[in-house]
Amino acid sequence: MPTAISLFTGCGGSDKGLVNAGYQVVMANDIMPYAKEVYAANLPETDFRLGGIAEITKFPPADLLAGCYPCQGYSQGGARDATRKINTLYEEFGRALRAIRPKAFIAENVPGMARSNNRHFLDSQLQNFGTAGYNVAFPKIVNGAEYGLPQERRRIFIVGIRSDLGIEYQFPNPTHGPSLKPIVTQADCLSETDRTWPHGDFYDKTFHWYYLSRDRYRGWNRPSKTVLANARHMPLHPMSPPLVKVGPDQWKFDGSADEARRLSYKEAAVLQDLGGWVFPDTASLMSKYKVIGNAVPPILFQRVVEAVPQEVSNA
Ligand SMILES: C[S@@+](CC[C@H](N)C(=O)[O-])C[C@H]1O[C@@H](n2cnc3c(N)ncnc32)[C@H](O)[C@@H]1O
Repeated sequence: MPTAISLFTGCGGSDKGLVNAGYQVVMANDIMPYAKEVYAANLPETDFRLGGIAEITKFPPADLLAGCYPCQGYSQGGARDATRKINTLYEEFGRALRAIRPKAFIAENVPGMARSNNRHFLDSQLQNFGTAGYNVAFPKIVNGAEYGLPQERRRIFIVGIRSDLGIEYQFPNPTHGPSLKPIVTQADCLSETDRTWPHGDFYDKTFHWYYLSRDRYRGWNRPSKTVLANARHMPLHPMSPPLVKVGPDQWKFDGSADEARRLSYKEAAVLQDLGGWVFPDTASLMSKYKVIGNAVPPILFQRVVEAVPQEVSNA
């Protein structure tokens, strides 16, 4: 069985994708205690080391390194300050890459990183991984909905193969969309007949002006909007009244706001392909939403991993 090390592991979305693709995750790391609790409840065999990445000086050998270093500086939901220190965590990923020398690596991040004003950060990452001895494929922005996820989720992937292997990585083609398999919708995975209000499982504070500055609604017959890590910005459940535009960055409910609610954390998990994943009740609702919104949907990571050439996965 090929082996993988996972950094910036979160609750294990990417790792579920690795496991589904046939990898054994031999080590994982994250700084957030609740992420470790969720991970341990679902993938107990992995050696999950809790703490800051900078504290880790020794790594076991592995065929593949996966890591979705944080991205607050680029994220639409974050402060969008590209100078924040958190944006240099890719250097820690580069350090691990040099120490482990896996046959391949995969990193995932928000697409804002490819915007022209952030482009120098993306270039620094590509240079860092290139000088570590990897052939880095030109980064690709993919939409989870085109790979069978019931959610519009655009993310950038950076994949590199160790140069001495002399092979190149090709991103997988979409599997869902026009003339492909039908796009998976919210109706396909959330129950249209379930009109319950799962109190305690969803963020029920008022819809403030910032929430209503964007369209947060998608109907049953479409994938959901992006599931974010911040509970306040969680998309609307499709049983809510739609939003109509009433001005620049201003939306209002086409019906009563009392009939609207955000997705519960369990529904958000389903839309992130984490249905059935256990989220222990040891943390707040906000923490549950956070690890779910931070996750890489397993189906998407699996597709990217499966496209890694066999020379890598032949352990
Ligand atoms: C985008 S999330 C990764 C999600 C994960 N790949 C998944 O699929 O569930 C980034 C993670 O980096 C973690 N993190 C942030 N700073 C860190 C640090 N200095 N050391 C280790 N982990 C860190 C955060 O707690 C967060 O879980």
